[in-house]
Amino acid sequence: MGAGNPEHITVQAVNALNRASVFFVPSKGAEKSDLAALRRRIIERFVEGTDYRVVGFDNPVRDSSNESYRSGVADWHDAVEGVYEQLIVGELGEEECGAFLAWGDPSLYDSILRILEKIRCKGRLDLDYEVVPGISSVQALAAAHKIPLNRIGESIMLTTGRKLAEGFPDNADSVVVMLDGQMAFKTVDEDVEIYWGAYVGTEDEILVSGRLGDVLEEIERVRQEARARKGWIMDTYLLQKPERR
Ligand SMILES: C[S@@+](CC[C@H](N)C(=O)[O-])C[C@H]1O[C@@H](n2cnc3c(N)ncnc32)[C@H](O)[C@@H]1O
Repeated sequence: MGAGNPEHITVQAVNALNRASVFFVPSKGAEKSDLAALRRRIIERFVEGTDYRVVGFDNPVRDSSNESYRSGVADWHDAVEGVYEQLIVGELGEEECGAFLAWGDPSLYDSILRILEKIRCKGRLDLDYEVVPGISSVQALAAAHKIPLNRIGESIMLTTGRKLAEGFPDNADSVVVMLDGQMAFKTVDEDVEIYWGAYVGTEDEILVSGRLGDVLEEIERVRQEARARKGWIMDTYLLQKPERR
C-alpha cells in the first residue's frame, strides 16, 4: 500500500485491490486509527463499486516486557497467526479473495509474509496468496530528500535502531535505519551525514538533513513535538559516513 501517500499505490496494487471482496484492516490505538483511516481511503479511492466488505480486527501487540526479544517476537507471531487464520476462515467464502494492505513493501520489516506462509504450510486451509510489491518508506525517504541511497559502487545496509545501538556497522558506509524508537542515532559519530524523515509521504511529512552533530538536537526536538501532537511517530533515516576522497 506504500508508506503513507495514497498515490504510492501501483497499477498492480489497484488491480489486486479490485480482485478482493474482503479487506482486513487492523484497528486499535491512535496510530492504528490514523493508519486504518488511510487504508480505508485507499480502498474507497481505488476500488470500483461497493461490492466489498471491510473487516476490522485487533492486531495482537508484542509483549515488550519479555526479556528475550526473539522469544517475545515468536509468541507475538503465533498470536498474529491465530488472528489471521480466524479472519480467513471466518470471513472468506470458499472462492473468495481477501486482502491485507501491508504498509510500505511487505518484504521489509513486516512479518505478514512469514505468517501467511506458516498458515498455508499447516495445510488446514486451501489457501493461496499473491504478493504485490510496494513503495517502501526507504524509497519514499530517498525521494523526499532527493538523494541516492548508495555511494557510487558501495553497499547500503538496512537495519533497525536496536542494531544500530550496538554500533555503526563496519562493513557499510550508508546505513538506513528503521524501527528506531530510541533515537539510536545519538550513539553515532557526529561527523556522519543524516537524512531523517518522519511520516514521509504524508501531509505531516517532516524532513531534516545535515551533519549529525549539527542537526541532532533539532531532530530530537521536532521528533518529540510531532510525537506528542499526533500520539505516534514513524521515522526512518539514512546515515552516511563522510565521502572518502
Ligand atoms: C514495521 S516497519 C514496516 C516498514 C514497511 N514495510 C516499509 O516498507 O516501509 C515500520 C517502520 O518503517 C518506517 N516507516 C514506515 N512508514 C514510514 C513513513 N511514512 N515515514 C517514515 N518512516 C516510516 C519506520 O522506521 C517504522 O518504524
